[in-house]
Amino acid sequence: MDAIVLLKDDHQTVEKLFKEFEKAGDRAYKTKRRIADKVIEELTVHAWIEEKVFYPAARAAVPDTTDHVLESVEEHHVVLWMLSELASLDPQDERFDAKMAVLIENVRHHVKEEEQDWFPQVRSALGRKQLSELGEQLSAAKPDAPHDPLRIPSAQK
Ligand SMILES: [Fe+2]
Ligand SMILES: [Fe+2]
Repeated sequence: MDAIVLLKDDHQTVEKLFKEFEKAGDRAYKTKRRIADKVIEELTVHAWIEEKVFYPAARAAVPDTTDHVLESVEEHHVVLWMLSELASLDPQDERFDAKMAVLIENVRHHVKEEEQDWFPQVRSALGRKQLSELGEQLSAAKPDAPHDPLRIPSAQK
């Protein structure tokens, strides 16, 4: 599969979870816990494959976007720390919904920048064949992703 299509599919999966979370009732604690856990899992795997495979390839292909890559890594850093906090935060805690709301804002902003500003540049720099090889590498890297968001490289500095 084309690397950019694969990454956009992941974004959509997460956006669906965000919408579900936003629709959940104030006291739907079990539902919100389940959705948050799924968000943590999906975004941890996604950040892993982007940082291990896509970002380095994109940076090499379009050196002009280096600043973009570096900003994206810092955005991952913030998101991963929030995911790690959410993993151990009780959904009944008064900070839970607020933390999810800020996480959702951050991720939507990040995804918008990836999809609108950056991916199109990468798509024009890499051919179709390279993008599909990159897509295979992304799929192959998914099972290696750690479960702990803080073990993703950008979380560590
Ligand atoms: Fe990203
Ligand atoms: Fe992404």
